Amino acid sequence: MNTRRYTQLMLLAICSLLANCSLAAEADAFDAAITYQGTCFACHGTGAAHAPEVGDVIEWEIRLEKGMDVLIQNTINGLNGVMPPRGLCTNCTDDNLTAIIEYMLENSK
Ligand code: HEC
Repeated sequence: MNTRRYTQLMLLAICSLLANCSLAAEADAFDAAITYQGTCFACHGTGAAHAPEVGDVIEWEIRLEKGMDVLIQNTINGLNGVMPPRGLCTNCTDDNLTAIIEYMLENSK
């Protein structure tokens, strides 16, 4: 067994002894709910700038009729000069934004 493999096995063994080892590995994972609260909530939680409010079932039903792809594109590019590009989350990836939209839709039905 070479040293590298041995080190990997040791780390694995130590890791399995720590209850929250897997949690530590996931610490960097993107959390849609937290980013939503920190960025999108300012408008989508309050209806500021006439933003469709999360929890408004009919409003989001109508928007979803355009198709998920359109909602994602309008989030990336912004919409009508009132929805800012990327919803002001400049460091969100397209996948992150999609996850937030899914979170918003999930909480509006
Ligand atoms: C400065 C206020 C503001 C912020 C911040 C904001 N939005 Fe919006 N958003 C709006 C407004 C206003 C609309 C409605 C635009 C319209 O229909 O003319 C909108 C519309 C949308 C829509 C519907 C698009 C469509 O095609 O109907 C989605 C999805 C959305 N926002 C996602 C997000 C996400 C995700 C974030 C956070 C990353 C975010 N928004 C942050 C104001 C905001």
